[in-house]
Amino acid sequence: MKKLTLGRTLGLAAAITMAFAGSAQAQTYPTRPVTMIVPFAAGGPTDIIARIVADHMSKTLGQQLVIENVAGAGGTTGITRAVTAAPDGYTIAMGHLGTFSAAPATYPGLKYDPINGMQTIGLAGGTPILIVARKNFEPKDLKEFVTYVKANSEKVNEAHAGLGSVSWTTCTLLKAQLGVPKINAVAYRGTGPALNDLVSGQIDFMCDQIVSVSEQVKAGNIKAYAIASKQRSPALPNVPTTAEAGLPEYQIEAWNGIAAPKGLPKDVVDRLVAALDKALNDEGTKKRLLELGTVLPTAEERTPAGFAALIKRDADKLSPALSAAPK
Ligand code: MLT
Repeated sequence: MKKLTLGRTLGLAAAITMAFAGSAQAQTYPTRPVTMIVPFAAGGPTDIIARIVADHMSKTLGQQLVIENVAGAGGTTGITRAVTAAPDGYTIAMGHLGTFSAAPATYPGLKYDPINGMQTIGLAGGTPILIVARKNFEPKDLKEFVTYVKANSEKVNEAHAGLGSVSWTTCTLLKAQLGVPKINAVAYRGTGPALNDLVSGQIDFMCDQIVSVSEQVKAGNIKAYAIASKQRSPALPNVPTTAEAGLPEYQIEAWNGIAAPKGLPKDVVDRLVAALDKALNDEGTKKRLLELGTVLPTAEERTPAGFAALIKRDADKLSPALSAAPK
């Protein structure tokens, strides 16, 4: 009886000590730089959004958010590293529609579970999808592109950022709709490097997020056939929607958002959520994001629950088509 009481007392003391340690950590968090893993090469859409948002979050948190590019396997290498790290708030990741909603249906042996196995922080931005091509690619508009790709499916080549990436996912859906599932594809470590090859004319086309291509489209270095959204983007008002350009059934919205390992203390989650929200309310940050074509998240999407619901909604939506897609 005496032993049991002693055991209980020790257990209670340990629990109290852990609770105090947790709250002390949260009060002082972060005491050192926080690593934000970007699971693609520098210069691509994920990297661009991560750097803009992290810049302001660093000011709020009083510690630098250091971007680490860990590319490979369509972004799943970097996300695996981030969400299996210690849940202490010092490793977080900027993922997206691909790594969080498309990857589970693309990689049967995926080492993380975006629905039940990670802590969502919030959505950083919506990133509309554009069908873009090298500037001297023969088709002049989307209708011609469709006809040309169908007639030349063995000749044309497409760039993407690996199986399960946004570029791969969105062009896979496009090709399924066109009835040309197999096209020569070149996989890059991100669409940043792929864009360089599109500009230099080595690649014919790709499906990419607006944030990295909008400047190149405006400069005339590549052409954009259409935006796969309901509305045109204020960042590229001359680019028609897929509905306007003759392919109304092709509509898909991509996005980028922050996640961390499961088990993060609630106070740390709250600090990161508040820092993200503050960044997205900052006029300078908003301007930088909007100029590139980012769609600012709603208040609900900036919350862990709202972001988790978006991940699940899109995973459910994409899963049947991606499971069946040629890999
Ligand atoms: C990137 O940052 O390179 C992209 O988000 C890649 C992609 O998913 O297409």
